[in-house]
Formats: sequence, C-alpha cells, structure tokens
Amino acid sequence: MIMLQRCIFKKFIQAVHSRHQDTTKGLLSVFPTSLLNGPTAAGQRNTSSAPDLTEQTLIAVKPDGVQRRLVGKIIQRFEQRGFKLVGLKMMRVSDDLLAQHYCELRAKPFYPSVLQYMTSGPVVVMVWEGHNVVQTSRSMVGLTNPVDASPGTVRGDYGTHVSRNVVHASDSLEGAQREIKLWFQGEDLVTWECCDRTSLCEP
Ligand code: TYD
Repeated sequence: MIMLQRCIFKKFIQAVHSRHQDTTKGLLSVFPTSLLNGPTAAGQRNTSSAPDLTEQTLIAVKPDGVQRRLVGKIIQRFEQRGFKLVGLKMMRVSDDLLAQHYCELRAKPFYPSVLQYMTSGPVVVMVWEGHNVVQTSRSMVGLTNPVDASPGTVRGDYGTHVSRNVVHASDSLEGAQREIKLWFQGEDLVTWECCDRTSLCEP
C-alpha cells in the first residue's frame, strides 16, 4: 500500500513539474540571483570573489598632527597595513576647499572653529588604495572624539581633544570619491604596481 502511495505521489510530482516548468522558471526569474543563492550572495562578503584592490580613500594629517611631527608615524601605519600610497601632498588649505570638504557640517555649532583651525597651518593629504581601505582606515583612525577612540587607533594614541584629533579619514566610499576629486587632480595620483601584491591578498 505504501509503495503504491509513493508511486502515485512521484507520478503526480513529475506531471506538475513538466507542466509548470516554464511557469516556475518565469517566477524564479523575477527574484534577484542574490536572493536565490542565499545569504552569501545577498549581503555578506563573498570570500571567493577577487578582492577590489582599487578602492581609494582620503586621509589627511591635520595641522595638529603636522605640528607634532606625527606625519611619518601615520604614513607608517597605512604602509604596514598593506595599503598603497597613490597620492601625497603638503598644503595650506583654502577656505573654499575646506567649505566644500566639510559641507555636511555647515549647520554644526563647531563648524566655524573647524574651518579656523584647519586653515591655521599646513596639512598633509594622501590617497591610499587597497582592499576595503575606506572601512579599514576608519577603524585604524578611531572614533571622532579621542576620549572614545580605542588605544591602538591614531586618535586613541595621539588625539588630545575632539577639536584636535590629528587625522581625517573619509567615512564612506561615496565620500572618499567626492573628497579625492576635491583635493587631487587626476594627474596628481600615481598609478603603480606593488611587487608584493600576492603576499597581501589572493590574486
Ligand atoms: P565628523 O565628520 O563628525 O567626524 P569625523 O572626522 O570622525 O568623520 O567631524 C569632522 C571634524 O569636526 C572632526 O574630525 C573634528 C571636528 N569636530 C569638532 O571640532 N567638534 C565636535 O564636536 C565634532 C563632532 C567634530
């Protein structure tokens, strides 16, 4: 009896399958592949895909960092982390450039003092490149207020006050792209190949 039931059930499934194969495909096609393939493709990092080594971020040593001779130490941290320096310059920042750079802070009460302080002395501005460099740099730099920044981060080790927090690091991929365009002309950035590329990540 059980055998008979199984047989009927199997035939039923085959019939439904062959009749609705196209309908099923049609229904599936409206779902993004990422959803059909499960959580890895939908949102989590796909460890098997090649890392994007061309991501770039803007890092600036602020006037307090320059005055305190911290430029070398900060550069060293990014080099040691395996990132590639593709742009570097020391400059005095114009009010206009800073206003564009910090345009999102315009309504903040501390905005005038940030502008005043950032134009008070030279800054060293850099573009660093590498896998996940935007997010990693933010972790390396630490929270905005040095009081909250963990030891081991740049601000946690060298920052003295929220208004003197040594470095700037872009906070998102879009922010980084916008800021790099603001601070660097295309020809200021240098394209070069790291000879130790395969020691840094999977090719
Ligand atoms: P913000 O973009 O909020 O932080 P972050 O630099 O971590 O992206 O602020 C920009 C800078 O403004 C910050 O690095 C230091 C300065 N600032 C102050 O002077 N006082 C403040 O209360 C805050 C929040 C920031």
